[in-house]
Amino acid sequence: MKKKLRDKIIYICFKYYVIAFIFIAVYGQQTGLKDVYKDDFYIGTAVNYWQIQGKDTLSLDILKQHFNSITAENVMKWGAIHPALNKYNFTAADSFVALGEKYNLYIVGHVLVWHHQVPRWVFEDDSGNTIDRNTLLQRMKEHIYTVAGRYKGRVHCWDVVNEAVTDNGEIRRNKWCEIIGEDYIQKAFEYTHEADPDAELIYNDFSMLNPAKRERVIRLVRDLKSKGVRIDGIGMQAHWHLNFPESMEELEETIMAYSELGVKVMITEMDINILPNPRRRIGADISLNFELQKKYNPFVEGLPDSMNLKLAKRYADIFTVFYKLKDKVSRVTLWGIHDGQSWLNFWPIRGRMNYPLLFDRQYKAKLALDAVIKIKQSTKYE
Ligand code: XIL
Repeated sequence: MKKKLRDKIIYICFKYYVIAFIFIAVYGQQTGLKDVYKDDFYIGTAVNYWQIQGKDTLSLDILKQHFNSITAENVMKWGAIHPALNKYNFTAADSFVALGEKYNLYIVGHVLVWHHQVPRWVFEDDSGNTIDRNTLLQRMKEHIYTVAGRYKGRVHCWDVVNEAVTDNGEIRRNKWCEIIGEDYIQKAFEYTHEADPDAELIYNDFSMLNPAKRERVIRLVRDLKSKGVRIDGIGMQAHWHLNFPESMEELEETIMAYSELGVKVMITEMDINILPNPRRRIGADISLNFELQKKYNPFVEGLPDSMNLKLAKRYADIFTVFYKLKDKVSRVTLWGIHDGQSWLNFWPIRGRMNYPLLFDRQYKAKLALDAVIKIKQSTKYE
């Protein structure tokens, strides 16, 4: 081949390579979910220990591109951050807050007062006897002052109390309530406000559409507000299923009802569980039982297209409501970045393959992400 011709071909290849490269760099990236909804609400995700440690770099790439808020999945829970009397372990929580600051995110602390993932010592004296109201209040105050105080002005929002109301619409008789009384909730909010006067404070719970629970939560928030206690928002966890909640009208009504209290509504832990759940608890490891495995863990080989589509449709329906109520909903947080990290692979049955989030195990965007983005692009509620 003549030298001139060869050089020309090389030149053309190079030119188009550069143009293609620039095109991919500018337009190749999928639009960030957070950018799509930037005028509407925060888009958040829970982050786990590996992500906080910077060990799961692919997740961090997704975090940067799609999310503008993070919640600590576990590292700020009492057992993790305050494992023994007078012993705090801040290393992971410090890294969590630093991660949020590095990417300029709205940082959510989860959680100050809860009946799970709290060690037994909290409620007992040295001899294992139950402590009295004042001692427990003192412990709660010390914990909140230390934790919320440490991140004062840096954590933007605290889940102050989690899951304090039962599905029957009663204040849950947990250790906090048994020892202190129902006003432990009020105290927790007061202490947190004292520790960090600028942080937004929310009450967080699941099954928030359940009428009895909803009524009780409304009464609780109204009561706190009437006493002048600071509460900024209600957190609806949103651990939902393909067919639950059943009606989008009910979801809409519920968000409206909460927001009529004059607080923000935040969707705090969203995921869509696509696997069948047993009515009774299955104690044994289902991987050992072929029949159970087939029934309760049907998608070990991957998610069929039809299910992927169903999930996308479900996300779209739900986001349609969030977007419609964008002036009431201030944040939508997913409970994880990708399917591989989801707690729903372990709960309520260990060792299943679940597909509840917007990115798959290979860190690829699922149809659901596209669907959620399209809702915003094709619908207008002004
Ligand atoms: C879950 C975490 O995702 C798991 O990693 C952990 O083992 C158990 O807790 N409601 C909450 C969250 O408020 O803290 C829970 O998170 C999920 C249910």
